[in-house]
Amino acid sequence: MQPKLKEMLLDLSTEPYKRTGKFNYHWARGKLWHDPIFAALIDQSVFPNGARILDLGCGRGLLPAWLLAAEQMAEIGNMPDAAPPPKGLQFRGVELMAHEADCGNQALQPLYGNRVQLVGGDMRKADMSNTDVIAILDVFHYIPIEEQDQMLDQIRAALIPGGIFVTRVGNAGNSLRFRISQLTDRCISFVQGHRLPGMWCRPVDEWIRALESRGFSVQSSPMSAGTPFANVLLIAHVA
Ligand SMILES: C[S@@+](CC[C@H](N)C(=O)[O-])C[C@H]1O[C@@H](n2cnc3c(N)ncnc32)[C@H](O)[C@@H]1O
Repeated sequence: MQPKLKEMLLDLSTEPYKRTGKFNYHWARGKLWHDPIFAALIDQSVFPNGARILDLGCGRGLLPAWLLAAEQMAEIGNMPDAAPPPKGLQFRGVELMAHEADCGNQALQPLYGNRVQLVGGDMRKADMSNTDVIAILDVFHYIPIEEQDQMLDQIRAALIPGGIFVTRVGNAGNSLRFRISQLTDRCISFVQGHRLPGMWCRPVDEWIRALESRGFSVQSSPMSAGTPFANVLLIAHVA
């Protein structure tokens, strides 16, 4: 995505957070600008038009903020040279920190109505029915490996052929990048008020095997450009 276009999209997608206070607004700007995943999700045309997306561990709803702003920009002809962003997306989100889900609703519902519905709750108990795409971005490592596997079973059962599971995970190993990822995650989580019992990470090859063994076909791409982290985007299609 061209930097100029990214700047315009940043302004449009974060403007709604102004009504939720300075911290949330600046948090949204920092994350959407510095994290390469948001531009990549548009550049790689990950989401089909009209998809019903379930965003587990949705935080303040930055994924819908970004994608719905991109749709608006395309509608008014401001994205002529970019990959066309998806149209008509509907978002449900589940977030452990209810105040973050509330912040996302407060920012986005005045603009997008019930196209964005975020609730406080544990993703392990989420209703996954009536969903075309399930997204879990930077969240899986907060639950133990056995529970990750149970969730992968539920996700596979919930998605029909053509369904997509999108996740970003840390590539566990001895690399300095992975250690920096973990340290940063612990610090940010602590500052945000999370008291995490632990972190459960695995190497990306294990993630791919876990997905393929459940019948997904998987594309992986490094997703840490411009950051010191060891993150990988996995896009898993139900064959
Ligand atoms: C690193 S943030 C990522 C937020 C969002 N996915 C994004 O990319 O902007 C991880 C989020 O997962 C949430 N989380 C952790 N465990 C969870 C669980 N069991 N159920 C729902 N949300 C959870 C945290 O509260 C936090 O907001």
